[in-house]
Amino acid sequence: MRKPIIAGNWKMNKTASECAEFVSKLAPQVKDATCDVVLCVPFTDIATMSALTEKTNIKVGAQNVAWADSGAFTGEISAAMLKEAGAEYVIIGHSERRQYFGETDKSVNMRLVQALKNGLKPIVCVGETLDEREGGKTELVNKTQVEGAFSGISAEDAAKVVIAYEPVWAIGTGRTATDEQANETIGYIRSVVKLLYGKKIADGMRIQYGGSMNAKNVAGLMAQTEIDGGLIGGASLKPDDFAIIVNTAK
Ligand code: 13P
Repeated sequence: MRKPIIAGNWKMNKTASECAEFVSKLAPQVKDATCDVVLCVPFTDIATMSALTEKTNIKVGAQNVAWADSGAFTGEISAAMLKEAGAEYVIIGHSERRQYFGETDKSVNMRLVQALKNGLKPIVCVGETLDEREGGKTELVNKTQVEGAFSGISAEDAAKVVIAYEPVWAIGTGRTATDEQANETIGYIRSVVKLLYGKKIADGMRIQYGGSMNAKNVAGLMAQTEIDGGLIGGASLKPDDFAIIVNTAK
């Protein structure tokens, strides 16, 4: 049995001063959750959020991590900095990073190695664009991204990773993948993990769906056998909606 994991991705939303009200609304509503609850927040919110969530079951994550320990990497943030600020999880390779900031399978892999080396729990994002899906390339794209991300990663380390399948065409568009589409592609991704690491690791790996997941469609998605949770953008900014999603993921 895989424990579901619901993670919010706040993207570039909310300042540190907006965190307290959010946590005070969310925490009491999710205190009995049976899934892992994570909020991946902007770097400047991490210390505040980790203090605010200390006595709750809400874990804090970041949205990126540098591949180097330290040094001349202007604008980047190190694993040690994230950990000291209180981050436990980190999103790596989000499609917005790939699309707008030049992230590649190679850089995703380097960041993943660094996260694992430092004990951060990685959430690695993969997913095809609309053109790729319509061109019949969904499986190829996801396979290539998974293989690229996990290149050189040991089975022991791979077992610590969460994958988020986020079809790019479903992100922020209100156009969710159907339950069946999401389940099918996630099942395919699990088969790729099986080829790389064998059945035990593949069966144990948590693979989330992401892309316009919300309080209304969460039940249908979570009822699918392959879907182990969600990576939620827009709906994670609203504590009541996010609480419904968390409490539906059993
Ligand atoms: P939305 O839930 O806003 O579509 O965003 C999904 C996402 O990109 C989560 O990482």
